[in-house]
Amino acid sequence: MFMTGSEISGFYKKSLEERLAIVKEFAELDKKEIEELKQYGAMSFEIADRMAENVIGTQQLPLGIATNFLINGKDYLIPMSIEEPSVIAAASKAAGIARETKGFKAEASPPVMIGQVQLVNVKDCEKAINEIKKNSRAIIDLANKADPVLVKFGGGARKIKTQAIDTERGKMVIVHLLVDVRDAMGANAVNTMCETIALELEKISGGEARLRIISNLAIHRTVKVKAVFSKKALEESFKERNLKGEEIIEHMLDAHQFAANDCFRACTNNKGIMNGVDAVAIACGQDFRALEAGAHAFASLKGKYTTLTKYYKNKEGNLVGEIEMPLAVGLVGGAIKTSPVAKISAKILGIKTANELAEVMAAVGLAQNFAALRALATEGIQRGHMGLHAKNIAVMAGAKGKQIDKIASKMTAEKNIRVDRAKELLNELEGK
Ligand code: MEV
Repeated sequence: MFMTGSEISGFYKKSLEERLAIVKEFAELDKKEIEELKQYGAMSFEIADRMAENVIGTQQLPLGIATNFLINGKDYLIPMSIEEPSVIAAASKAAGIARETKGFKAEASPPVMIGQVQLVNVKDCEKAINEIKKNSRAIIDLANKADPVLVKFGGGARKIKTQAIDTERGKMVIVHLLVDVRDAMGANAVNTMCETIALELEKISGGEARLRIISNLAIHRTVKVKAVFSKKALEESFKERNLKGEEIIEHMLDAHQFAANDCFRACTNNKGIMNGVDAVAIACGQDFRALEAGAHAFASLKGKYTTLTKYYKNKEGNLVGEIEMPLAVGLVGGAIKTSPVAKISAKILGIKTANELAEVMAAVGLAQNFAALRALATEGIQRGHMGLHAKNIAVMAGAKGKQIDKIASKMTAEKNIRVDRAKELLNELEGK
């Protein structure tokens, strides 16, 4: 059958071969491309097909290990999955500097998520809020009946908070159900509880329950991390450039103030933080979209979008870095239990609880931000980036094995990193 359109019914019912045949024809893929789609790593088609719909392959990303991390006195090798050069090296470098001053101190709050129930067409919002308050114990008990397993493990619904909001479509009552989700990310437990209590909330408020869904702005599930970066270690990290530790710190504090007071800079600053957080999240099969949404909403909670980190000098003149951010991650019920590489990543980390994973991720976020500021406030980031970029360009030009490093270093030294130059150098090496 010749087909050019995207209107295909029951794609999910088709076999892998049939799906591939359809996509091949639609996009005019060649044989080699189909063979590449058929290259499965640790995640077989069968696992992938259970995790998402209409699967035709798996997307692979490099999985690297960030070294040097000491968090709450424990050594970690941190799996990071990311397509961008320099990120893993930068995190490792920052962790090495922090290590000299006892590494990262991290503390996660209890894993409490918010579920929201939207009530519309409520005649008397104030009365409804009061009634909900009066009945909150019964509502919490009802929510907990929906997840006895969570309750058995020490979690469950804890609190109800209610408020009215003014909207273009009139006043609405918004109920927040606070749920301790223990080692789960929490979306399933919270959504089920919200759906369970909705009918009761309708009865109590006299309104209609509409949306019943988790909030990814997990303000009750945050992690705080702190690290000291000594001027001596900072100075040593720039030995070849002869920069004074004090000077580096002053420049970094200026860089931080830029992010603290300018949302355009804050956005990029936080992107750098999320380079680290997301890379660990992806390695460990976490919902990184939820983390991104939560992080950026948290960064604007005080009415202006700002950085998630803070830097200041301590009395010894060393640089103190801090981060605070929401991190809703889970060890049960998600891809960390189904994706083979995510399972191995969790094992490499040696994490015992979701809170521990969140602490590691926030420490990586702080390390990443510190590394970016350190580079940006001094030599700029292109030097570090370019070395790795040069290797990619060398590969693109056809270099293999030892040729890659030789060509990359030559191009970096010449400050001329281009495919045509890499080809010339390759020809020279091969005596052509
Ligand atoms: C690049 O992926 C991340 C940085 O832009 C972060 C920053 O500017 O802080 C280097």
